[in-house]
Amino acid sequence: MALGCMRLVTGNDLTDRRLNVAVVGLGYWGPNRLRVLVDNDEAAVTHICDLDAERLTRFAQRHPTTNASPHFDDLLEDDGLDAILLATPVFTHYALAKKALEAGKHLFVEKPLAGSSCEAAKLVLLAAERELVLRCGHTFLFSPAVRAIKDLLDRGELGELYFVSSSRVNLGLHQQDMSVVWDLGPHDFSLLLYLLDQRPTWVSANGRDSIVKGVPDVAFLDLGFDSGLLANIELSWLAPSKLRRTVIVGSEKMVLYDDSSREPVRVFDQGVVYEDPESFGQYQLSYRTGDIVTPRIDTGEPIDLEMRAFFHDIAQFKIADRSLDIATDVVQLIESAESSMENQGEKTVIPASLGRERRATRASD
Ligand SMILES: NC(=O)c1ccc[n+]([C@@H]2O[C@H](COP(=O)([O-])OP(=O)(O)OC[C@H]3O[C@@H](n4cnc5c(N)ncnc54)[C@H](O)[C@@H]3O)[C@@H](O)[C@H]2O)c1
Repeated sequence: MALGCMRLVTGNDLTDRRLNVAVVGLGYWGPNRLRVLVDNDEAAVTHICDLDAERLTRFAQRHPTTNASPHFDDLLEDDGLDAILLATPVFTHYALAKKALEAGKHLFVEKPLAGSSCEAAKLVLLAAERELVLRCGHTFLFSPAVRAIKDLLDRGELGELYFVSSSRVNLGLHQQDMSVVWDLGPHDFSLLLYLLDQRPTWVSANGRDSIVKGVPDVAFLDLGFDSGLLANIELSWLAPSKLRRTVIVGSEKMVLYDDSSREPVRVFDQGVVYEDPESFGQYQLSYRTGDIVTPRIDTGEPIDLEMRAFFHDIAQFKIADRSLDIATDVVQLIESAESSMENQGEKTVIPASLGRERRATRASD
């Protein structure tokens, strides 16, 4: 069997009808999923769920044809429900996701997949055992701008990659139960893993809890890769302006990805060439400043494209192993960064990928 993806064999034919889905968690992010799902012709939102009575009532009034319940277990008992979208706080993910999979529901969990790498690995295993599709919401990977950068990298246009630097900062939204690394880190970690097709081997992270004691609201991370590539990521909920900016520097070209710009991708045909010294003590650097190109970016809303990919996997009975590798690796990177932060930036080795181990185990079964 190919290791890239696994096709499921199931008697439940979901290829020729709309999927019945539930949105669980209607706080800040869940309503965004609900909005795109209402317009999606592949799915019908049949259930909404939130513990908060006021929120639930508000959305039930806007969507009167859905079943609204504050009790997650009510959803699990409905045999007509095909899939659940979990947009609840991170540290509720594992318990709810486990229940959903055990009840036979396909599952989409907002980032990060779970509150620990051990829990993330258990969910991946459970989904495979139950032959259910599990996906984690790493929405930026569905951004047409990110896909355009991925194409450039895959074509080798940047040459040898030297380093990546990224800033993801804004004022708020302060989280109470997790650090800025758990909250914003998944975006940059998933982007690095997806774009570079490499996994960092160490991380050194420093942060501080400027406002709420015990909850780091700013973090500076350095990551190293076996190839020699370095990455630097700045994460913060305390900044005067919102930045979503990543620079990738290669030997041939450099890319600037600015998610908040009208021209989100700019490719700089610029670099420096080192020439071997002709005599001792002399070396030559020549600077190349060529064109700056703004590639055409496809249209499409990432959050909608991501939902369609989830439904496609269900219709095709496909477990997307690559996306689950990224999801579990992201949780491992968060844990390693947190551990380094607790040890004042100590260079911390990132353990081997749980995804790869999982596939190796499966292949040797
Ligand atoms: N992809 C993205 O860009 C993105 C952006 C923001 C948040 N997120 C993710 O979305 C998830 C939710 O984040 P948020 O900011 O919306 O959180 P939030 O706290 O604003 O909302 C969570 C909601 O879940 C409800 N809830 C909690 N436990 C529940 C349970 N057992 N059953 C039913 N409802 C329950 C709460 O009442 C609340 O309304 C997190 O995993 C977060 O990381 C993703």
